[in-house]
Parts: sequence; structure tokens; C-alpha cells
Amino acid sequence: MDIPQELKEAIENAIIREKYSNIINESQSISRKYRENKGKGEKLVTKQTEAIAYAISRMPATYCAVYSALSKILKNNSFNIKNILDVGAGTGSATWAIKDLIKVNQITCLERENEMRKIGSRLMSECEDLKSIEWKEFDITKDELNQKADLIVTSYVINELKPEDRRNAIKKMWNATNQILLIIEPGTPEGFKHILEARNILLAENAEIISPCPHNEKCPINPETDWCSFYVRVSRNSIQRQAKNGELGYEDEKFSYIAVSKAPIKQENSIILRHPQIAKGYVKVKLCTKNGIEEKTYSKKDKEIYKKVRKLDAGDTI
Ligand SMILES: C[S@@+](CC[C@H](N)C(=O)[O-])C[C@H]1O[C@@H](n2cnc3c(N)ncnc32)[C@H](O)[C@@H]1O
Repeated sequence: MDIPQELKEAIENAIIREKYSNIINESQSISRKYRENKGKGEKLVTKQTEAIAYAISRMPATYCAVYSALSKILKNNSFNIKNILDVGAGTGSATWAIKDLIKVNQITCLERENEMRKIGSRLMSECEDLKSIEWKEFDITKDELNQKADLIVTSYVINELKPEDRRNAIKKMWNATNQILLIIEPGTPEGFKHILEARNILLAENAEIISPCPHNEKCPINPETDWCSFYVRVSRNSIQRQAKNGELGYEDEKFSYIAVSKAPIKQENSIILRHPQIAKGYVKVKLCTKNGIEEKTYSKKDKEIYKKVRKLDAGDTI
């Protein structure tokens, strides 16, 4: 999957104004900061060059993760979404992804860091559909969330907060949600623990899970030994390869997520948890079902279902 051409060009134009080597160095240093300092409530990106470096090195992956999760939510449900909040918007990836999936009247980007807001709105100024998006200074740990929205998205933010702030932030966002709250985290054991924590908080508030879980019962995955994550294959151009010190023309972005609804919704029967194992004559899948985790094998003899399952992937429903 690739980011839209308009976003690519906007990011390239942001780099042109800066010294290229500074941006590449900054990309590598913010990756290190994110690895070492998350979860402490620290400010990780405060300089303009860091915000541009974030846009280069992380926006393609976070855009694709949000796009992928949101597509799954919208696939089998029809919502009438008129306004949206992107909380901890960074340089605006989630909003770019939302714009490509939903026709909305109003999106507001809420972000604590000035340089992130500046670069995010500069990128959006180059897109006809996004140039009038409102950006507001907002700290989820301190400020009231007075504005309600039909859809609230927060991607890769919760893991930057201290544990007590995480829990309060989730409640704050849920209280401001009219229809859907979507929380996305890195697809790591730690990211999954945050999603599980959010899941428990939200179920206690009578939320209905839209995706990925096919039920509102206790999660059958033990977070001490396993985790639930999905991935999206993201194209990388030469600047992103340099920024990330990588050689491949793509990267697999792993993410964990939870999307919940205020209103009752029709849940899926089961969801594929891991990439199906394809062997000679059969395909094996690990599923999360309404009855817990199940492993199913589909033989080549059952032509239709075998052909269908072979083409599915983690995160798809059966
Ligand atoms: C890893 S970035 C994610 C940005 C964007 N959502 C994305 O998916 O690319 C995390 C963002 O959350 C913001 N953030 C961290 N703590 C925050 C807080 N307390 N209130 C608002 N934003 C916060 C950071 O400034 C940063 O822009």
C-alpha cells in the first residue's frame, strides 16, 4: 500500500526547504527517542526538523495503519459520520487516511506540540480537501475535551502517556464520542497491552466492539504470552529508506487496534489472527471466534472455501 501522491509531494516539498542531511539524521534520532522514552509523558518531537523527520519516516506507516483499520470498520457497517476529531494528530496522518475513506464535513486535529501542528497544517495546505482543516493546541492529559465528534481517532498516542494519563485519556475520548472511537497502537506486546486495557475500560462503559474482536466477552489472548496485531505492507521510497537505514522497498507496519461503538452493532463471526498457513492440499488458520480461539483446517477438497481462505490474511473475517 502507498500513501496518496498529494501527501508524498507535500512531504517532499517540506524537505526541500530544509538541509537534507539534517532531516535524515533527525529521523534516526527520533526513532531512537521513540524506542527509549515512550510511556513517560515526555515531549519527543519539539523542533521543526524533528517534525519533518517524523513526517518522512512515520507518516506513510501510520497513514496505512489507520487506513487499514478504518476500512475494516467501514466494510460491514454504515455510519453517518459528519464530524471527526484526530487526537494527538502529530503531522496529520490519520486525517489524510480518513479523508480518503469518508466524505466528511468537519475534521479537527488536536495536538500538543507546536512544531507538529505547524508541519501538519503546512502539509494539509497543499491538499484542496484538507487545507481548511482546523488545528488546535490540545493536551489530552490537561485540557477538557469539550468538542464532541461522531468519530474520534487516536493513533500511536496512548503509548506516549503515563499509565494513569492513558486511562483518563481513554475515558475522556469515549465521553466525547457520538458514534465511534478508534484507538491504534504499535503492534507490539506493549501496544497490545494498551489496547487490552482500553478494551476493558470501554467495555465497562458499555461500549460495543466493532473491530477487530467478534464479541464483547473477555479477550481470550493472554497478554503475557501472546498478542493480537495486524500488519500492512507499506511502500518506501529512497528518502524513507535512508531515513530508516533500510534497503527494502517496503516495510511491514504492525499495529494493534480497537474500534468501539456507542450503538449496538452487528459483529463478525470470526476474525483471522495470523497469516494463514498454506500447505500442500490444505490451509490452516487461527481464528478469534465468539467461542474463543480456534484453529481450523480447510482441505483443498472443499474447493470454494479453500480458495477463499487462501486469499485471506490476518485481520480478515470469515
Ligand atoms: C507518535 S505521534 C502519532 C502522531 C499521529 N497520530 C500519527 O499516527 O502519525 C504521537 C503524537 O501524540 C502527541 N501527544 C503526546 N502526548 C500528548 C498529549 N498529552 N496530548 C496531546 N497530544 C499528545 C505527540 O505530540 C505526537 O504528535
